[in-house]
Amino acid sequence: MDTITLALAKGRTAESTIQLLTNAGIQFTDFHEKSRKLVFYSDDQRIKLIFVKALDVPTYVEKGAADVGIVGKDNILEAQADVYEMLDLKLGKCQFVVAGKSEQVLNNTQKLTIASKFPTVAKKHFQQNGRSVETVKLNGSVELAPLIGLADAIVDIVETGNTLKENGLFILEEIEDISTRLIVNKASFATKSTSIHQFINTLKSTLE
Ligand code: PRP
Ligand code: MG
Repeated sequence: MDTITLALAKGRTAESTIQLLTNAGIQFTDFHEKSRKLVFYSDDQRIKLIFVKALDVPTYVEKGAADVGIVGKDNILEAQADVYEMLDLKLGKCQFVVAGKSEQVLNNTQKLTIASKFPTVAKKHFQQNGRSVETVKLNGSVELAPLIGLADAIVDIVETGNTLKENGLFILEEIEDISTRLIVNKASFATKSTSIHQFINTLKSTLE
């Protein structure tokens, strides 16, 4: 059997993903979220896990530095990587939305400015609705942008809605449902077909 290199997104869903792998019988006894180590092997040595920034997971997989990746659909959409998306792991469920102070902000006849951690997603969404927008790339606390006049609206992720609520913002448009997905490098899918299929099937039956 081939060893599979798995790129796993650091952050919120890392621990629940490791739990899912454990439930599937793939144990990482030496894994600790707080460890500064970035490479771990499964107890059976069949999976090499590399722990990377979420937005980099699609890049690692596209370039073949990892055979498979586990990452949110938000980052897959933003990275626009050429990979196969094989499985919805149904973790980290949330939604991409347009949000702002009121409906009116979208009626602005001038070119809208949209702040986002996901400028590619934001541009594409407005383009599909026939609007070209200016995007401002931020790296967090995006909800601030409409409050201090940096942008007319934001494109961001909503989970509970608390962050929007506490900052007086409303959902103006819903874009897409997000959850954690399994992606696969196109070449690895052919060259490591048996191992990768086995890995996918193991996860699939654990999810059922
Ligand atoms: C994320 C996201 C929203 C918030 C949504 O931010 O960008 O701001 O969580 O969650 P909620 O609907 O449950 O409030 P995060 O906490 O990751 O911080 P950041 O945007 O500053 O990186
Ligand atoms: Mg945020």
